[in-house]
Amino acid sequence: MESIKLVLVSSAGRHIYIRNTEEDYHCQYGMIKKEDMAEIKSGGSLNTNTGATLMAFPPSFLDSYKRIKRAPQIIPRKDVAAIIAETGIGKSSVIVDAGTGSGALAIFLANIAKSVVTYEIREDFTKIAEDNIATMGVKNITIKNKSVYDGIDEKNADVVTLDLPEPWKAIDSAKKALKTGGFIVSYSPTIPQAADLVKAAEKEGLLHLKTIEIIEREWELNERVIRPKSQQIGHSGFLTFVRKVSQ
Ligand SMILES: C[S@@+](CC[C@H](N)C(=O)[O-])C[C@H]1O[C@@H](n2cnc3c(N)ncnc32)[C@H](O)[C@@H]1O
Repeated sequence: MESIKLVLVSSAGRHIYIRNTEEDYHCQYGMIKKEDMAEIKSGGSLNTNTGATLMAFPPSFLDSYKRIKRAPQIIPRKDVAAIIAETGIGKSSVIVDAGTGSGALAIFLANIAKSVVTYEIREDFTKIAEDNIATMGVKNITIKNKSVYDGIDEKNADVVTLDLPEPWKAIDSAKKALKTGGFIVSYSPTIPQAADLVKAAEKEGLLHLKTIEIIEREWELNERVIRPKSQQIGHSGFLTFVRKVSQ
């Protein structure tokens, strides 16, 4: 898949993402000439043949991230934010992730961390994730097409993230892969999964820090109509944070 080259924003706030700027672009607001798109270097406006004006600028990381191919369910950004905030992932962090799925979490973390190694059991999802990584131009991710339940090759990781059906099966390997003081973060849609993970972690001598659910409530702000939006994101998953506090 080609990467996004240009973002257009209508007066109503609608975002349009253009991958091919080598040809004239047709959308609901009319036609935009390729020569006009080529003029946009850092930001500006474009007029369509029907007289509409659209704001235009090159994509940010987030613009491109929002358009990656999705195969299995990806972790919502509210939950990614909590993973980063609760573990302190930064530019020197070494991360192991499983399962890769579409690569969404791995890509987000790689954008701020030193490196990410991610495990995916399914070959078809591995290919989708590889494509997403290439499209995003992220260079510090390695994908391994194998089961994380069979072991983790890496050592001295700062954080291991687990987003897969039976995370407790990876606890032993995750512990061995982590440096002392490192974190395991497990993301599960149901509480029985989180409870089994905690049980397995405690059996391994890991410290259960907390299990949380992040609830985002968006508001409508439209003149005097100021209230929570009637349609909200429902439940996504529970985040369990575990720490390796001894060898
Ligand atoms: C919900 S998806 C992960 C989504 C991913 N975190 C993202 O943000 O795009 C769960 C993934 O775990 C993979 N998986 C399941 N068991 C696995 C295993 N034993 N080892 C590695 N990956 C596994 C599945 O194939 C699936 O792609």
